[in-house]
Amino acid sequence: MVRKYVYGEPFETDAVVQKIETEQGMELEVGRVSLEKGFTFSYQMADEDIVYGLGESNRGLNKRGYCYISNCTDDPNHTEDKRSLYGAHNFIVISGKKNFGLFFDYPAKITFDIGYTRSELLEVSSETADLYLYVIGGESAYDIVKQFRKLIGRSYIPPKFAFGFGQSRWGYKTKEDFQKVAEGYRKNDIPIDMIYMDIDYMQDYKDFTVNEENFPDFTAFVREMRQQGIHLIPIIDAGVKVEKGYSVYEEGVEKGYFCKRENGSEFVAAVWPGDTHFPDVLNKEARKWFGGKYDFLIAQGIEGFWNDMNEPAIFYSREGMDELLATLQKYTKEEVDRIPLEELEKVTGLANSPKDYRSFYHCVDGKRIRHDKVHNLYGYNMTRAAGEAFDELVPNKRLLLFSRSSYIGMHRYGGIWTGDNKSWWSHLLLNLKMMPSLNMCGFLYTGADLGGFGADATRDLVLRWMALGVFTPLMRNHAALGTREQEAYQFEKVEDFRGIIETRYRLLPYLYSEYMKAALRDDMYFKPLAFVYPEDSFAADVEDQVMLGNEVMIAPVYTQNAKGRYVYLPERMMLVKFSKNGEYTKQVLERGHHFVEVALDEVPMFIREGSCIPLVKAARCVEELDTTRPEMIGFEGAEYMLYEDDGITKEYEKEEHYRKLKK
Ligand code: GLC
Repeated sequence: MVRKYVYGEPFETDAVVQKIETEQGMELEVGRVSLEKGFTFSYQMADEDIVYGLGESNRGLNKRGYCYISNCTDDPNHTEDKRSLYGAHNFIVISGKKNFGLFFDYPAKITFDIGYTRSELLEVSSETADLYLYVIGGESAYDIVKQFRKLIGRSYIPPKFAFGFGQSRWGYKTKEDFQKVAEGYRKNDIPIDMIYMDIDYMQDYKDFTVNEENFPDFTAFVREMRQQGIHLIPIIDAGVKVEKGYSVYEEGVEKGYFCKRENGSEFVAAVWPGDTHFPDVLNKEARKWFGGKYDFLIAQGIEGFWNDMNEPAIFYSREGMDELLATLQKYTKEEVDRIPLEELEKVTGLANSPKDYRSFYHCVDGKRIRHDKVHNLYGYNMTRAAGEAFDELVPNKRLLLFSRSSYIGMHRYGGIWTGDNKSWWSHLLLNLKMMPSLNMCGFLYTGADLGGFGADATRDLVLRWMALGVFTPLMRNHAALGTREQEAYQFEKVEDFRGIIETRYRLLPYLYSEYMKAALRDDMYFKPLAFVYPEDSFAADVEDQVMLGNEVMIAPVYTQNAKGRYVYLPERMMLVKFSKNGEYTKQVLERGHHFVEVALDEVPMFIREGSCIPLVKAARCVEELDTTRPEMIGFEGAEYMLYEDDGITKEYEKEEHYRKLKK
């Protein structure tokens, strides 16, 4: 049961695909709305209420007890106090005394105070009152999520190779750098399907260019890598470099497709290439134009992309820099020690400044809209530009696509990665907690930078994090420039890494099958335990274990030097520990609390009572996996319905894709 309320004049975000009659109301069946100061929704929470949702956001699975702000932000320091990350996923579910879901379809900054100011009060507020509010009733939190997912349309489905392992690092520059990575994996017999190309493959960080000196024949190089079973996945940044003679820039200016200042001139933001313009992806024509540009790389054999810096991130604007320089010029050399702190803070305030986001405009259906009013839609529409273009360029072929910034609705066009985390144990746990929340909001193809992006990784952290990554649809090891190298072959005892990555490939038919079922049925791939065991009061509190698909529970180790961890089993389950050389051990454990030992080279997983799953032999890449006669592990007499298709085309709904397997 879904009700749609309208307040003011909302911007059409296209987040929702179902048509629903709108209503007006202030006293809702759950909570009340006030328009006294902007928009405020409030609800008195009961003691036992749990609040789920908010997709890519900080802290726990249960969002209660903190304040979160949807305001897509390029901030690489995801410490506990942060309220905004890269995405804006305004869907929450209240589960307890009453069960209901709320989706605030509002593209500007919106605050979710979930028992932060007053422990019993849920208050969602925004500066202006132009939005749609969807109220979803249902039997349980899980039921509400499934209804919401129907409302927003089918999640993005990547090609099957995208379920393989990928290596990335900011700093690979030349053809030889990429060959070295490929060799590092192939020589050590570690499976790999993708190597990601960060900004250095481009000519001067210009989108849709390739540095010709470093890649004299790019098409041939893409082909050479494909012959080794490896897909190259280039990055595309939001900002288009300002440079005379650069066709994307010149065309964009000529057609008026870049975001403009109030006076009609193109807004200038400095990002990696120096001065850039932002393509106005909220404008249909500009979106089509920008999306079409991906063909430059598709035509050279590229089958996947990652869209970055699309909050959009601004290092500084022309205006911001001018203001700073003018401030500093007020002081002579002798006076530097007397510059007031507020003036000095202008230096750190240059990046992603709210003032800049208020100073440029989009043109949507002939109307001018100030950016800050639709800020959270930028990454969504950049990715939509690519997704819509792919549908035209390669209609029956799936391409890999994921983005850093997002809004609900983007889940139909691509996945996301969770941005610039750090090589911290706490971020391994954060990675796990975010996954079910993201699934609630439609984002199924997701993952974090395994091993951590910023800061130096340690061998044990990379191993433990990859052991979680075995289960996340996007399994990518990525690291920042200047950090310790963390490719699997950089550490001692490479066989430990091989064993973990091989486990991914051995489980791949199962993981892919569960992903496809979740996508095709608007269901979740990762679920909180409480969604599966609603009557179990212990399960409600578990935040460091999640259900995967319909047969499995995972409980990764996330503390350094731990020999294992405590795990809660809501029912009898089979513990399987995968290790190297295709080996594994199994043990049936009764319902209850257990300490489970997990060595550094092991991947633990639990199979639910009465279930079984397929296991195959690892191969060097996804397309070389032999899935004809999988081994079945799990409980005797159990059956499993395997979904398997070519992983390339979009004919998902055929009965022949399903195959019943028995233990
Ligand atoms: C951003 C991205 C990161 C990338 C870097 C350089 O920080 O989030 O993944 O490596 O830019 O392009």
